[in-house]
Amino acid sequence: MPAEKGSFYITTPIYYPSSALHIGHAYTTVAADAISRYKRMRGFEVFFLTGSDEHGQKIERTAVSQGMKPIEYIDRIVEGFKTLWKALEISNDDFIRTTEDRHQRVVQEIFKRIYEQGDIYKSQYEGWYCTPCETFWTERQAPEKVCPDCGRPVELLQEESYFFRMSKYADRLLQHIEQHPEFIQPVSRRNEMVNFIKQGLEDLCVSRTTFQWGIPVPFGEGHVIYVWFDALTNYITGIGYLDNPELFKKFWPADVHLVGKDIVRFHTVIWPIILMAAGLELPRQVYGHGWILLEGGKMSKSKGNVIDPLVLIDKYGVDAVRYYLLKELLPGLDGYYTEEAMVTRINTDLANDLGNLVSRTLAMVERYCGGAVPVPAEYSEVDQELVTLAARVVPDTEQHIERLDFSNALASIWKLVARCNKYIDEMAPWNLAKEGRQDRIDTVMYVLAECIRQVTIQCTPFMPLLPDKVWLQLGIEGQKELHSWDSLNWGRLPAGMKVKRGSSLFPRIVDEEDQKKTDKEKGKSRPAAEAPKETAAPPAPAEKPRISYDDFAKLDLRVAQVAEAKRVEKADRLLELKVDLGTETRTIVAGIAQHYAPEDLVGKKIVLLANLEPSKIRGITSNGMLLAASDDQVVEVLNPERVEVGSRVK
Ligand code: ME8
Ligand code: MG
Repeated sequence: MPAEKGSFYITTPIYYPSSALHIGHAYTTVAADAISRYKRMRGFEVFFLTGSDEHGQKIERTAVSQGMKPIEYIDRIVEGFKTLWKALEISNDDFIRTTEDRHQRVVQEIFKRIYEQGDIYKSQYEGWYCTPCETFWTERQAPEKVCPDCGRPVELLQEESYFFRMSKYADRLLQHIEQHPEFIQPVSRRNEMVNFIKQGLEDLCVSRTTFQWGIPVPFGEGHVIYVWFDALTNYITGIGYLDNPELFKKFWPADVHLVGKDIVRFHTVIWPIILMAAGLELPRQVYGHGWILLEGGKMSKSKGNVIDPLVLIDKYGVDAVRYYLLKELLPGLDGYYTEEAMVTRINTDLANDLGNLVSRTLAMVERYCGGAVPVPAEYSEVDQELVTLAARVVPDTEQHIERLDFSNALASIWKLVARCNKYIDEMAPWNLAKEGRQDRIDTVMYVLAECIRQVTIQCTPFMPLLPDKVWLQLGIEGQKELHSWDSLNWGRLPAGMKVKRGSSLFPRIVDEEDQKKTDKEKGKSRPAAEAPKETAAPPAPAEKPRISYDDFAKLDLRVAQVAEAKRVEKADRLLELKVDLGTETRTIVAGIAQHYAPEDLVGKKIVLLANLEPSKIRGITSNGMLLAASDDQVVEVLNPERVEVGSRVK
C-alpha cells in the first residue's frame, strides 16, 4: 500500500441507504478501520472517510414504495448506519452524506468545470439501465435485456442527456494503470480492468431527466446528475475540496479507496477519468476485495438471507466479530460465512489460543511468583527462540497489513500465540515449581508476559476492545508507552507489576442445541469430555461416593490409537474418530472439536472406555468413549504415548 509518509487517507464505499447494512458492508468498513488504526499507531495522520450514497432512482423508488419522502426514508436508515459503525468501534473521521450541501456544491462545481472545458456535452440517450446497480448498458452489452453485473432486467431509456467524453481518456488511463502497478489491487482485478478498457470506452451518460432525486445540473433545467458521478465525488468533498483547501492539500490524493469487487470498475475507470478531466491527481490505489458469500450464494434482501452484524455483535462481542471477518477473507478472494464456522473460529483462536494463554500465564504468575511479573534470570535456548520469533513476527505482521492482507497478519500474530502455548506445555512450570527451580519459573513467566504484551499491541488495530482488558490484567494500564507499536522490542515490560487476573477475555461459546443434547446425554452415555461452561474459577469437582475396586474393575479401559478423524457435519463440537484397539477398529464420537483439529489427533494414542454401551449421536453410532481432562479453559485428551496399542489402563 503506497503512502507518502505523514498523512494517510482511506475511504470505504458510501453505501446505499436502500436497506440496512449486512456483514458484507461491515467487512469493508472494519477492514478500513483496521488499517486506519494501524496507520495511526505508526504515527501517520489519518483521515478515514465513510458515508452514504443517497441519490438516484433506486432510493427514490424504494422510498416511494414505503409511502415516504426520500429524505425521511433515508434519514432513518442512515441513523442505522451510524449505530452499526459505533457498535463495530469504527474510528472514521467523518461521515459524508451526499444530500449535504457541502457535497452538492462540489459535485456541481466539478460537473460545470468539465462541461466548460468541453468534456461534457448534450445529446440523446437511447439505451438500457439497471436501476439496482444504477448502471447504463448498451444494446451490445445487454443483448438479453438483463444487467451483465447482477442479472436483473434492465429498462429502456430514451431521454435527452449530458454525456461525458470518457472515450477521449482511455489511452491515458491505460498508460496510468501500466505505469502504476499498485493503482489497481489485487493483481487479478488489474488484469480484468485492463481487458475491459482495451475493448474501448464509450462516452458515459451523466444526467437523467425522468426522475428528480439527485443533484441538479447547474445549467441544465430538469436534469439531475448521474448518481455515480455524484457518489464518486464524495471522496474529495469529504476532505474539504471547496471548503478547506488546507485539509484537501494534506490528504489528496487518497492512499486507498477500499471497495468490493462489484464496484472496482466505477473506481478505476469512471472516477480516474473524472479526476483527469477536472485536473486533479488520481488516487494511489483502488483495492477490490472479494465477497462474503453464504452457502446458498450471495446475500440478498429478496432471498431473506441477510446477516445482521448487530445481532452477531450482541451474541459474540465486537472484537470476536471483527476478528472473524478479517480472518476469513483472503486477499482478493471470496469467503464463506456460516455461524458455525464463526463460533469454531472464536472458540479455537480466541477462547482457546489467546484467551487461554493469558489466563494460564496470569494464573501461574499468581501461583508461582506472588502475583507480580518476575525479573527474568538467564535465558535458555528455548527462551531465546521465543524472543527471536517475537521479533520476526512484527515485520511479518506489518507487511501483511500494508498489503491489506489481514488474514495473514492475524496468522502471523497467532504464530507467536501458538508457540507460547506450546512453550508452557514444554516448560511445565508446575514441575519446575515442584523441583523448586524458581529462576526458571521467573524467566518462563517473564517471557510469556512479554509475549502477551507484544501480541496485544499487534492485535490493537483488529480488536480495539481487547488491549485495555489485557493492560489491566498485566497491571500496565497506566503505562501508555508500553502499548505503542514503537514499544515492540523485547524486554520493555517492567518486572514487579502486580497482575490482576480478570474474567476470561473471550468466553467460550457453547452451542445451545448441542449443550441441551449433551445435558440430556449426561450420566447415560456422554460421548466425551464436556466443553466446560464459562465460569470465573474452575468449578470444584463434585465429590462422588466411594466405590470398591470391583466397581472400578468393571471399566474396560484400553489404550487405542486414532486412525482417522473428521468433523461431524452441522455439529461444531463433535468429531468422529476411528480408533484402533489392536484387535479391532471402533467408531466413536467425541465432543472435542473445539479443542482439537482432526489432523492433530490422527496418530495419537488415547484412553478408551471400551465397554460403554453404544449410543447414537447425530446419526453416528459411538462405540466407546475417549477420556479427557478439563478445567475452565482447557480440554486435554489423555495421551499415553509410550505403551502399546491395546494396553490396559488400571
Ligand atoms: O455500491 N461481501 O453501495 P452498496 C463483501 N453506493 N462486501 C460487500 C458485500 C459482500 N457480500 N456486499 C456489499 C454501492 N459489500 C455504492 C457505492 S462508492 C462511491 C458508491 C460492500 O451499498 C462492498 O464494499 O451496494 C461493496 O463494494 C459495497 O458494500 C457496495 O455497497
Ligand atoms: Mg451494490
